[in-house]
Amino acid sequence: MIQLIKGFKDILPEEIALWQHIEQTARALFESFGYREIRLPIVEKSELFARSIGDTTDIVEKEMYTFEDGKRGNVTLRPEATASVVRSYIQHRMSAEEPLRKLYTIGPMFRRERPQKGRYRQFYQIDAEVFGTASPLMDAQIIVMLVSLFNRLEVSDISAHINSLGCPVCRPDFQKALFTLLEEQKDRLCENCVRRSTKNPLRTLDCKVPSCREALKDAPSILDFLCDECKTHFETVKTLLTRQNIPFAVDKNLVRGLDYYTRTAFEILTTSLGAQNAVAGGGRYDGLVAALDGPPQPAIGFAIGFDRLAEIMAQTKTLSPQPPALYVAALGDACRELAWAFACDLSLSGIPTEMDFEDRSLKSHMKRADKFRAPHVLILGDNERENGVALLRNMSTKEQTALPLDGLVPQLINILG
Ligand code: HAM
Repeated sequence: MIQLIKGFKDILPEEIALWQHIEQTARALFESFGYREIRLPIVEKSELFARSIGDTTDIVEKEMYTFEDGKRGNVTLRPEATASVVRSYIQHRMSAEEPLRKLYTIGPMFRRERPQKGRYRQFYQIDAEVFGTASPLMDAQIIVMLVSLFNRLEVSDISAHINSLGCPVCRPDFQKALFTLLEEQKDRLCENCVRRSTKNPLRTLDCKVPSCREALKDAPSILDFLCDECKTHFETVKTLLTRQNIPFAVDKNLVRGLDYYTRTAFEILTTSLGAQNAVAGGGRYDGLVAALDGPPQPAIGFAIGFDRLAEIMAQTKTLSPQPPALYVAALGDACRELAWAFACDLSLSGIPTEMDFEDRSLKSHMKRADKFRAPHVLILGDNERENGVALLRNMSTKEQTALPLDGLVPQLINILG
């Protein structure tokens, strides 16, 4: 038997009601904030991700599915959506059309990470991006929208964590101070952090290795290094969130795993998923559009880990698929063909109808109808057919009504529609 590859998974029909519920709730909420959907390819030139996410990030260094595609050179299965959205925004000159662009996209991403619970090699993200405003009002609004989605989905075990990562003016001073500490503590750092200290020192703050945590417990706070503009921006975001009753915690060590961020960075954490505690993450990336040769436009966005969100919700919620409105129980060959035509017409008219084509007894049909949780059963046997009727049985009251076969479909639409 061929089995699926480790780190990949099937989302089975039993899980789909929950996935659809999440997706519909997100779409409705995002659209009421003016976001419009965009659908993008899964494969992009590798260079796009190297230049945006950053050459020295874990994602680009070791997690990308990259292959050579003839003359096109190296292409990569997208590890995230932001880079592709930015590429499309620049390519289609979206800023010329409307200075403020709010976009969302939902789909699969690919990272060759070590698979474990909540961490997959193909996973889904619900991603939102805004271009064209540097205002802290947008930072606060996008966090309000994100937290509200969790509230609407009745996911209570979450907390919002925020930080400011500064800008190209103030961050270098912080990096210098951090680098000095990293040099002093070199012997206590893991191999990965020693390497990061020169290439990407901020990432050391995120290291989970206990000796690194201990070595960096007195690390300087980036918040003490912010320039006046970044400081005011961050203060405004916090004030607006408080005013909107959004609880949050400031985490000076929140650095994110992608290099494009500036100023506000945020994550939604949960305690329901063990080690993989981030269910969403995002932030401002004011320099990325220009870095990818687009017009200098500020931007901000987030991505929700769809699989992780569905897993948290599945712990407390079961959503069953909608039952059909009608189960058709036909007895005997002649009746089955007649009933088959009724069932087709009802389904085509938008009445969810289920019919079993096998030769079964009435008792076994009733069992099937119960299994489908059908509230009504249409019974058509030779007796009924000879009398020119079919019986409509209400499964909860057990009441049966004889309906004339002539004009049966419109009558059923009237009763069940
Ligand atoms: P990220 O933090 O890399 O950010 O991913 C966002 C979310 O995707 C994570 O919080 C997590 O829930 C989920 N996720 C990431 N990797 C996996 C995995 N291997 N298995 C399951 N779920 C996973 C980004 O991707 C940025 N593009 C977010 C963003 C948008 N920033 C600005 N705009």
